[in-house]
Formats: sequence, C-alpha cells, structure tokens
Amino acid sequence: MQAITASTPGGPEVLRLSTVPDPIPTAEQVLVRVRATALNRADVMQRLGQYPPPPGESNILGLELAGEVEAVGAAGNGLAPGERVFGLVGSGGYAEKAVIDARMAMPIPAGWSFAQAAAVPEVFFTAQETLFTLGDLQEGETVLIHAAASGVDTAGIQMAREIGARILVTAGSAEKIQRCVALGATAGCNYKEQDFAEWVKEVTNGQGVEVIEDFIGAAYWDRNLRSLKAGGRLVLVGLMGGVKIEANLGLLMTKRLQIFGSVLRSRSLADKIAITQRFRAKWLPLLAAGRIKPVIDRVFPLAQAADAHRYMEENRNFGKIILEV
Ligand SMILES: NC(=O)c1ccc[n+]([C@@H]2O[C@H](COP(=O)([O-])OP(=O)(O)OC[C@H]3O[C@@H](n4cnc5c(N)ncnc54)[C@H](OP(=O)(O)O)[C@@H]3O)[C@@H](O)[C@H]2O)c1
Repeated sequence: MQAITASTPGGPEVLRLSTVPDPIPTAEQVLVRVRATALNRADVMQRLGQYPPPPGESNILGLELAGEVEAVGAAGNGLAPGERVFGLVGSGGYAEKAVIDARMAMPIPAGWSFAQAAAVPEVFFTAQETLFTLGDLQEGETVLIHAAASGVDTAGIQMAREIGARILVTAGSAEKIQRCVALGATAGCNYKEQDFAEWVKEVTNGQGVEVIEDFIGAAYWDRNLRSLKAGGRLVLVGLMGGVKIEANLGLLMTKRLQIFGSVLRSRSLADKIAITQRFRAKWLPLLAAGRIKPVIDRVFPLAQAADAHRYMEENRNFGKIILEV
C-alpha cells in the first residue's frame, strides 16, 4: 500500500508518499481501506521527533481515520466488509490501509462524507474527556477556552454551548474570534493584543471562571490561576507555550483550585474503548442530528501531507485539516 513516511525527523519536507507493507489485523482488529484521515498537532510533534509513537504502534502518522472495512479479524465484533466506519487509532492513518480495534470502529452516520467522519474522533474525544469528564463543566458555569480556533476547541465550543455554559475564548486574530462566536462562544480576546487575564477580570466583573481548558501551559500558568474563581478547575491539555514553571502554590491553596492533566494517545485500550462508548452515548447522536458539526478548514490529498503540515504550523487553520486518501 501507499503511505506517508518520514526517513528522518525534520521539517514538512521529510514527509513522502512511499510503498510499505499492508498492516495485518489481529483477532480484535479490522483492516480499513482509509478514505480520509486528519491532522493533529501531535503529528507535527511526531514528525519533528518530539513525540514518538507508544510501544507497539507503527511509525506512520495519523491518529484518526474514516473508511470502509476491508477485512475483519477472527473476533469480528459484528463488523462486516464494506461497512463505513470511523474512529481513533494510535498511529497509521496517513495510509491507504490501517487497522483499528473493532470496539473503537464506529459506523459513519448516514449522509456523512468520509472527510466529515475523519474530522471527529481525536478532537471530540479530547474535548469530551477534558471539558466534561475531568473539568466537570456544568450548565450556567463559565469556561475559558484557549487556542479556541484549534481543532479541539471548535469541537469543545459547540459541546459547551449545547450544555448551556458561558464560553470565553482566546485566539490570535479578530477573524478567528468572530468564527468562535458564530460557533457559540460568548466573547473572545485576541491574546496577541490584550492580556487575557485582565480581559477575563473585566468581562466577569472580577469573578473569574469555573473552568479553564488550556493548551499553552507554562506561558499561561500564572494568568490562568488568577482567572479562576475559588474552587475553579484548570485542565491542562497541551503545552504549546512551554513546560516549566515557577509556581505560586499559595494561590492554588487559598483559592482551593483543582488542576487536571490529560492525554489521549498513550491511554490503555480499555480506556480508549470506554471513551469511545461515552462519545457514542452522549455526543454522536447530537452530531448525527446535525446540532453539532465537525469544523473542516481545508482538505488536502494524502500526497500533499507536507503542505498540510506547513499550513497547520503557520496556524492558518480554523478547525480540522483533512487528508483525503
Ligand atoms: N492532551 C490531549 O489529550 C490532547 C489531544 C489532542 C490535542 N491536544 C493538544 O491540543 C492542542 C490543539 O491541538 P489541535 O490539533 O486541535 O491544534 P490546531 O488545530 O493546530 O490549533 C492550534 C492553535 O493553537 C494556537 N497556538 C499555537 N501556538 C500558540 C501559542 N504559543 N500560544 C497561543 N496559541 C497558540 C494557534 O491559533 P492562534 O492563531 O489563535 O494562535 C493554532 O491555530 C495542541 O496543543 C495539542 O497538542 C491534546
């Protein structure tokens, strides 16, 4: 089969289409003829050599896929060749064929394109687990969502809107903020022009927010703690602004704050199956009904994976970047 591979860590130019052996499904897996996959920031980090795949996963990039079942392993798990499925994988999406555990392969809702389905798993699972399972965001609460134009947040904003939360966002341009407001955000701050902590103080009348969804890490630590209400919850989901901090533990204690960290890729298979089931029960029906939509910025052919990576690294996307196979 053809797949995108990289002979060495480096810039987008290391990504090349090449011929590699087909993957072989285990008893619990199905072999999928991939029709679409999607980019995630983790792919950029893996390409740079900063995020190696977990043990047992292939070196081929790609954390999600949509396609048709080509063959089922001995366990079958109720899937048959020809079925249209989508789901989360630990690697291997940037290829003509990939394997996925049958318990994580979800039927594609009627009327969806493969591109729409491929835009869903990583970002909706992440937003579900961080905003709700950990952050416990409730109706009527205020959430501050950073890097709000990202794939994860274009999912998260809509999910928070659905439960009736008030949504404050930060992003790097007025246009991105406007698009977040169209998705359901209440108000936004261009973090390049204004200190977001001052802005949060202003728009919450000095109260702060109950939950923060953060992808920036070190650069935002102090300002995040200041922006939380007493008893607030900070969920750390990315580290695009650095990993090391000098912390004010006093603020943590006196405000009785809770800090959560979360990852998806290195979780156990049992965890990922449980996450998939939670998604199918709560959020997939809303997506299938069209109340929540995957936000697709741009579609590239698989052979242009390098251009797609450049586009993401230039922060040009609002929502997901898809690779059509
Ligand atoms: N822990 C998990 O389970 C998990 C799972 C999935 C993703 N993630 C993380 O979630 C984040 C978003 O992933 P994604 O694939 O959705 O990303 P994405 O679509 O590439 O969006 C990332 C956005 O972040 C903003 N940004 C980049 N560098 C920044 C910085 N230094 N300060 C502030 N904003 C910055 C950019 O928008 P602006 O123009 O607004 O700057 C960019 O568009 C990443 O950090 C990723 O690693 C974590």
